[in-house]
Amino acid sequence: NHRQADPCWLRYAPVDHPERLAQYRKWCKELVTPANPSPLLASAIFELHQGIESMLHMKPQCVAVPAEAYSLCLGVKGQSALIDEALAPLADASEDSYVIRTISQDGRKHLLMAGVSERGALCSAFHLLRLMQMGESMEVINMQESPDNGLRMINQWDKLDGSIERGYAGGSIFYKNNEIPSHLTRVHEYARLLASTGINAIAINNVNVHERESWLIKLPMLSQVARIADIFRNYGITVFLSVNFASPIVVGHLPTADPLDEDVIAWWKQTAAEIYEVVPDFGGFLVKADSESRPGPFTYGRNHVDGANMLAEALKPYGGLVIWRCFVYNCFQDWRDRTTDRAKAAYDHFKPLDGQFEDNVILQIKNGPIDFQVQEPVSPLFGTMPATNQMLELQITQEYTGQARHVCYLVPQWKEILAFDTYAQGEGSEVAKIVSGSLYGRKLGGVAAVSNIGDDRNWTGHILAQANLYGYGRLVWNCNLSAEQIAREWIALTFGSGSTQRTEVILNLLMTSWLTYEQYTAPLGVGWMVNPHHHYGPNVDGYEYSRWGTYHFADRDGIGVDRTVKSGTGYTAQYREPNASRYESLETCPDELLLFFHHIPYTHRQHSGKTVIQHIYDTRFAGAEQAQQFLDAWLTLEGQMDEEAFENGRSRLLEQAEHAREWRDQINTYFYRKSGIPDEQGRTIY
Ligand code: GCU
Repeated sequence: NHRQADPCWLRYAPVDHPERLAQYRKWCKELVTPANPSPLLASAIFELHQGIESMLHMKPQCVAVPAEAYSLCLGVKGQSALIDEALAPLADASEDSYVIRTISQDGRKHLLMAGVSERGALCSAFHLLRLMQMGESMEVINMQESPDNGLRMINQWDKLDGSIERGYAGGSIFYKNNEIPSHLTRVHEYARLLASTGINAIAINNVNVHERESWLIKLPMLSQVARIADIFRNYGITVFLSVNFASPIVVGHLPTADPLDEDVIAWWKQTAAEIYEVVPDFGGFLVKADSESRPGPFTYGRNHVDGANMLAEALKPYGGLVIWRCFVYNCFQDWRDRTTDRAKAAYDHFKPLDGQFEDNVILQIKNGPIDFQVQEPVSPLFGTMPATNQMLELQITQEYTGQARHVCYLVPQWKEILAFDTYAQGEGSEVAKIVSGSLYGRKLGGVAAVSNIGDDRNWTGHILAQANLYGYGRLVWNCNLSAEQIAREWIALTFGSGSTQRTEVILNLLMTSWLTYEQYTAPLGVGWMVNPHHHYGPNVDGYEYSRWGTYHFADRDGIGVDRTVKSGTGYTAQYREPNASRYESLETCPDELLLFFHHIPYTHRQHSGKTVIQHIYDTRFAGAEQAQQFLDAWLTLEGQMDEEAFENGRSRLLEQAEHAREWRDQINTYFYRKSGIPDEQGRTIY
C-alpha cells in the first residue's frame, strides 16, 4: 500500500473563516525558537511549520529575537526570563506540563508555548495547532496543562512476522517478514499522531513474546529497535520492549531462567547493560509471565516478586522500569468446577505481595477481572495494594467490541472505569487517583492500552475507530475531559467544524455506540458468547464448555455466574465496602452487571421492572434497530466528507447492521429455546 497514510486528526485543513484566517496570519508570521534546538524541540518547530503552512498557506519566519508586532514563541524552562516567568505557576508541576499564554512586552505581543520540559513544549505546540484547527481565537490565551498520569502508554501487540495479535487494521507498521523494515515512514507518522495526543511511552512488541521476538533485546536486532527508538524519542515517546521471561534459556543458552539463579541474574544485568549502550533512554520491560502458558517464575517455585524484582534490579542503574502484568489466571479450568473463579485470580495472586516489589516495578492491571468485555466490573485489585505501583490496562483495539467492523466508541467506558470509586481510602478513592499515584502518593503510575492501528491507509480499519486512539491519549492526559468533549474535538479535527448536521450525526453515533453494542451482544455483564479463538460474532455456547473459565451457566431455569459470598464463588468479598455489599445483594446489584454477579431465574425482575428474559429480548431488538439507524444516519452524510471516509463508514456500518441482526437472532433464539418463555410483544424469534 504505497498511497499516503491518512493524516487522521493532523489534517490541518486550510482555515476558510476570513476573520480567523487574518487573525492567525497576524500571529504566525514569526516563530521565536532557541537557536540550536534539540531534536525534540526541532519536532515541535517542524510541527508548527507544517501545520501553519497547511492551514494558513504561509511560512512562519524562524527567529531568535522577535521583530514583528506579533509572534509565536516556543521554549523550555531555563531558556529565557520570558519563558520562566510564564512557567512560574507550574513550579511544582510534572515535567510534561506547559503553558500557552499571550503576553505583551515592549510594545510587542507574544504567544508563548512554554514547556517545563522539551516534551511539554512539544505538547504545547500540538495544543496550539489543535486550537487553530478548531477555530478558537488566538487573541487572548491563558492556559496551563499538566498531565494527570505520568505514564501514558501504548502497547503494540505486533509480532515480528508482521501480523498483529488482535489487530484489525492490516499488518504491522513495525515488522515485516521477521525484520524491522528499512523504511519506517509509518512509524514516524504514528509517533506524530501519538505525541499530538500526549502519549509518552510505547511497548513495541506483543506481550506474548515467542522465540523470534525474544531476540529483540540483543544485537543485532537491538540496533533495529534503536532505529524505532530514535523516531519515537524525537517525539518525546520512550520505547519499551515486551520480554520473554525464559530469555536466559532461549537467547542466553542457560539451562534455567530461575530468577534466583546467579547466572540468570548476571545474564539479565549484562543484557540490560547492552540495551542501554544502544538505547540510552530505553524505558524498560513489559512482562507477561505465568499467564496463558507463557513462562514465568512459577516454573522454579518462585513468585511474581522474585521474577519482577530480579528484572528491576537489572534495569535500576539506568532508570528503567519493569511493567509486570497481572493478567494471571488458570486457563485450564473445568466447567464442572464451580469453586474456581477466573475473576478472582489477579487479586488472589497479587494482593498478598503488596509492599514487596521494587520501586521501579509497576503492576499493570486490566480494567476488569476477566478480559476487556463490553461490560464487566472494575478489577478489585485497584487500590488494594497501597505499597505497590499500579497502572491500568485498557484495550483500544476492539477485540470483544466489534473488531473495527462495528463502531464502538470506548471513551465512555473508560470514563466509568476511571471514575469507579474503590473506597480504598474512603469515599473519593477513584481508580483515576490510584493509577495516577496521587491517592497513595506514589511517583510511578499511569495507563497503558493495546493499540488499534495497523498498516491500513486509515490506520484503524474503521474510520470511526480513530476516535478511540485519539480519545485514549486525550483522556489519559486529562481524565476530566468528557467523552463528548473528546468526540467533538475528534470530529472537528477529522471532518472539520463547519457542518453542524455532520457533527451531530457523528457525535450521536459515537456517543450511543458502546451501549448499542452491549444491547445486541452478551447481556447484563455476563460477557463472551463469541466464537472461540478469533472472538468475532455470536456463539452463545462458544466458550461454555471449554477450559478458559468464561462461563454464563445458562440452563432452562436461569443464567449468570453466582459470585456472591453467600452461595457462590465469593468474588464479591474482594471489593471494599460499600461495593462488596452492593454487588452481593440482588437488591442493590446494578442491572448492567446482574449476570456477572448472580445466577438468577429468567423471570427475575430487574430494577428497571423488566424480567431478565424480557430484557434480553427487548435490548436485542433495540440494539439491532439502532445499528440500522447508524447506517441510515451515515448515509445522510454523503458528499460531506471525502469519498473514501464515507465509503469506509458506509460499508462497515452496513456490515454492523447485518451482523447486529445475526447477534439478535442467535441470542434471542437461544434464550427462547432454553427458557420456553415467549416475547411479550410477539416479535419474530426463530
Ligand atoms: C486476551 C487476548 C489474547 C492476549 C491476552 C493478554 O486473552 O485474547 O490475545 O494475549 O488477552 O492480554 O495477554
